[in-house]
Amino acid sequence: MTDLLAPPTAATRRQARIRHFLMCRPDHFDVTYTINPWMDPEKPTSNDLALAQWEVLHKLLVELGHHVQTIDAEAGLPDMVFAANGATVVDDKALVARFRHSERDGESQHYVDWFRKQGFVEVVQAQYPNEGEGDYLTTRRAILAGNGFRSDPRSQAEAEALFGRPVVGLTLVDPRFYHLDTALAVLDEDEVMYYPAAFTPESRRVLETLFPDAVLADEADAVVFGLNAVSDGYNVILPEAATGLAAKLRARGFRTHGVDLSELLKAGGSAKCCTLELRH
Ligand code: ARG
Repeated sequence: MTDLLAPPTAATRRQARIRHFLMCRPDHFDVTYTINPWMDPEKPTSNDLALAQWEVLHKLLVELGHHVQTIDAEAGLPDMVFAANGATVVDDKALVARFRHSERDGESQHYVDWFRKQGFVEVVQAQYPNEGEGDYLTTRRAILAGNGFRSDPRSQAEAEALFGRPVVGLTLVDPRFYHLDTALAVLDEDEVMYYPAAFTPESRRVLETLFPDAVLADEADAVVFGLNAVSDGYNVILPEAATGLAAKLRARGFRTHGVDLSELLKAGGSAKCCTLELRH
């Protein structure tokens, strides 16, 4: 009786939505250059360990019921495992990345080819630097667009025109959080979590206005890439070291899944970086 009268808890209101993701096995993963402060080519990396950690993430997404496709990894493109950077896909339209750094240039054509082969009709390569879902995160109200380190603010108008949705620019200031998806994650259509200090005061105000109810991360959780998380509206996959953030999410009714992607963090990426959502 008491159960029937009790108001629904946050957990019972949350609902997972099946997603479609694109991932890239870290077959050629390595750290051979430095394009963000996490990358130190002097530090040894293990391809086997990177692969094993990636497999856990892949398996978890499949077990949660999501559809996961893969794009072939290419030799000489060690960062290709970070599929989130390949494009932004909204309503079947793919805006393929134009990378800021020449080291990753070669990835774009593989994404163009992949999307064409899959039958996507609108496949456009960005005109200005635009690092895909690394910087472009979709919410119901707007597409949030990070800039300051990688994507060019001019790429925002391009995204707005292609997708026909409002794009809100957010400027990043801390080089450790060089992509929007290292400082902010979309949890549900209108719900986000972020690390405020990663943004300019102006951008922080924009976030406060758009998402007054956001989950705020502290530095300890941000530096272990806790915000580089994948959410389906109920399940949130995030680095296991982000324990404080996981507790905050559980208190909000999310189910958290901690993963160890420490090998990929040596290149400055984690769970979200490895997954590109294909919004059909
Ligand atoms: N080493 C890669 C780079 O600096 C890491 C990319 C991480 N991806 C992401 N979506 N944040 O470009």
